[in-house]
Amino acid sequence: MKEVTIQKFSCEQLYNLWVTDPDLIQIIDLRSAIDFQEGHIPGSLNIEVKKLPTFLSHLPNKLAVIIGDNIIPREIENEILAFTNFVFLNSCQKWKELKYPMTSKYLGEKIKIKEDAKMKDIIFHQLFEAESSTYTYIIADKKTKEAAIIDPVLETVDRDLKLIEELGLKLIYALDTHIHADHITGAGEIRRRLGIKTAVSQHAEIGCVDIALEEGQELSLGGHTIRVLETPGHTNTCLTYYFEGMIFTGDALLVRTCGRTDFQQGSPKKLFESVRNKLFQLPDETIIYPGHDYRGHTSSTIGEERKFNSRLRETISMDEFQKIMNELKLPNPKKIHEAVPANLACGQPQDKRLLHPQIVDGVPEVTPLVVLQNMPQVEAGKIQLIDVRRPDEFNNELGHVKGAQLVTLGPELTKYLERTDKNQEIVFICRSGGRSGSATIESQKLGFKKTINMAGGMIRWNDEHQPVERI
Ligand code: FE2
Repeated sequence: MKEVTIQKFSCEQLYNLWVTDPDLIQIIDLRSAIDFQEGHIPGSLNIEVKKLPTFLSHLPNKLAVIIGDNIIPREIENEILAFTNFVFLNSCQKWKELKYPMTSKYLGEKIKIKEDAKMKDIIFHQLFEAESSTYTYIIADKKTKEAAIIDPVLETVDRDLKLIEELGLKLIYALDTHIHADHITGAGEIRRRLGIKTAVSQHAEIGCVDIALEEGQELSLGGHTIRVLETPGHTNTCLTYYFEGMIFTGDALLVRTCGRTDFQQGSPKKLFESVRNKLFQLPDETIIYPGHDYRGHTSSTIGEERKFNSRLRETISMDEFQKIMNELKLPNPKKIHEAVPANLACGQPQDKRLLHPQIVDGVPEVTPLVVLQNMPQVEAGKIQLIDVRRPDEFNNELGHVKGAQLVTLGPELTKYLERTDKNQEIVFICRSGGRSGSATIESQKLGFKKTINMAGGMIRWNDEHQPVERI
C-alpha cells in the first residue's frame, strides 16, 4: 500500500458544484458500507475500491469526487493515475460539520430500533376519563419501577392507583400540565394516599404543591429523565413534559387543534410562540400525547402537526392564528367554577357554590333573574335570601321576594351574621342594591365567602315583572 497524492477538493467546492451543477459530478464513496449507511452525501455511490478504475472509465463527461481514506492500493495505483477526471475529498466529516445535507439509508430504521429499545425499558400507559375527555398518563422506569402520573383526574384516582399497584410501580410524582378548568386534579388525593410529590408550574403560585416547576427543570425517574418545557398560552401555567421521545402537551397542543386561550391568563400570541418556537423545534418523530381529545385520537407527532394542525400548522401566520382564537367564543367549561378553585388548592374540592356572581366594583352580584332561576334552592334552604330594608319597606308597593327573610341593615344584620355559618350562601336584597351591597361587604369582612348582592334590588325585580309577595 502506498500513499498517493491526488488533487483534493474542499467541502465548500464540492457543495457549490453539488448545488449548481449536480449533473457534472459523481460522488464516489469508498468508505465501508457501514460508514456509508451511517450517513453520506445525497447522490453518492458506495463502491469497493478495486472497482474504482472500471467505474472511472465509464464516467467520461463527469468529474468523480472520491470520498475515502486517501489510500489507494498499489495494484490499482497506476490505473487510477491514468485518469484525470477525478478529485479527492478526504472525508464526509467536514460536510457534516458544515451542516450540509446528509442522507442515511438506514437512519430511519436505526432511530426506530433505538426507540424500541427505549420503550423496552420504560412502562407507558394512556388512560381516559370520559366526562371531561381527559387523558391521564403513567410513565415508569421498567427496572427501578419508579413512576410518574401525568394529569390524574379526581374521579379516576381509584382506577389509576389500582393499575399502579398491579404493575408493582413505585409512584414518585403526580404532575399536572396546568391548572385545569374542566376537571379536578387527582394529584392531591394521590398524595394523601401514597405520600408522593405533586408538581405544577411555578407560575401557578400554589403554596400546597411540593415542587414548583420551571423551564428546563429535570425530574429523574429511575434511569430516565422528565424534562420540563414551559409552554404558556392556553393558560399561563401550561407545561409540557418531555420523556424519551414523547411529549405530554396538556392543552397547549392537541391532535390537529389546540387549547382555547380565553381564560386563566391565556394568550393566543403566547400559545403561538410556545408551539411554533418551542414544540415544533423538536424532531418530527417526537410523539405527542395530548391532555384531551374529543374525536377519538390518542396521539400524534410533531411532523404531523407541523403539516396538518388546523390552527397551528406552519403555513398559518400569527395574525391568522390570533383571529381564529379570538373568534372561537366558546362557552365556559361546565366545572370551571368548581375545578379552578379546587386545583389551586391541589385538588382539594372547595365548598361547592350554587351561584357564580359577577364581581362589580369589588362586590359579587347576581341579577334578579338568576335569583328567580334558583328559587328551588331557596326553597330547599341551600340559598338564603336576606332582605336588609326597614320593616315598613318589606311589604310596601315593591313587596319582597318569596322566601326572603327580613333582617334590617345595622345592628340586627350584624348580630344575624355573627351567628350564621360563614359557608352559607346568601343573597342580600334591598330597594335599589345600595344597602344590600353594604351588607355583602360587611359579611365578607366577617369571613363569609359566598354572599352576594342582588343587583338593582326590588326596583329592578319589579321592573322585570318578577313575582312579588306583600304579606
Ligand atoms: Fe385546560
